[in-house]
Amino acid sequence: MGIQITPSMLASDFANLEAEAARISGADWLHMDVMDNHFVPNLTLGAPVIEALAKVASQPIDAHLMIEDPDRWAPAYVEAGASSVTFHVEAAAAPVRLAREIRAKGARASMALKPATPIEPYADMLPELDMVLIMTVEPGFGGQKFLDLCLPKIRRTRELIKRHGGDIWLQVDGGVSVETIERCADAGADVFVAGSAVFGADDPDDMVSRLRALGAS
Ligand code: DX5
Ligand code: ZN
Repeated sequence: MGIQITPSMLASDFANLEAEAARISGADWLHMDVMDNHFVPNLTLGAPVIEALAKVASQPIDAHLMIEDPDRWAPAYVEAGASSVTFHVEAAAAPVRLAREIRAKGARASMALKPATPIEPYADMLPELDMVLIMTVEPGFGGQKFLDLCLPKIRRTRELIKRHGGDIWLQVDGGVSVETIERCADAGADVFVAGSAVFGADDPDDMVSRLRALGAS
């Protein structure tokens, strides 16, 4: 896989999700941010909204679960139609079992790390994963400033992925824009979430193309 762009629908108009997805027809995925007001101090949407969007959107759904107890809830997001399900390792009681369950149900399994969570303790479980998500802001809100302190971890994660072999995608999420995407790509990221950069642009689909070009350069 080359560079992929997954716009965060958190920055789109929640009253018109189908139309908003259609405005970014060039996007590879739709990133859906699930927040439970426990793991993060914000509340967004759950499986029913993902199920509704999955039925009408042409792009597959990339669900990012910022919730407590993903062991209990993540499988329902596969059933709702998400093609990729990301859980936070800080919240998972049994991340290996959970990744296996997500895969067994037919979705890509992905593990997210908050900015202060190191990748090294989880290196041995990389073969259980299809993607690692490195947060480049503290999760909870769109529109925050990109944290450069996360770049060395992106680099180290790419090195570990190379060492373990396998086609594991490396996603970055938070503050990704035309200003910051090249830094992420240079460090080894290949899947880019962008919310405010895409939906704050006059032409969101053109911004998707611009980000893709910069991410590939
Ligand atoms: C933040 C979410 C992100 C967010 C990204 O907790 O996980 O996906 O929507 O928004 P921007 O691109 O505006 O930082
Ligand atoms: Zn997200």
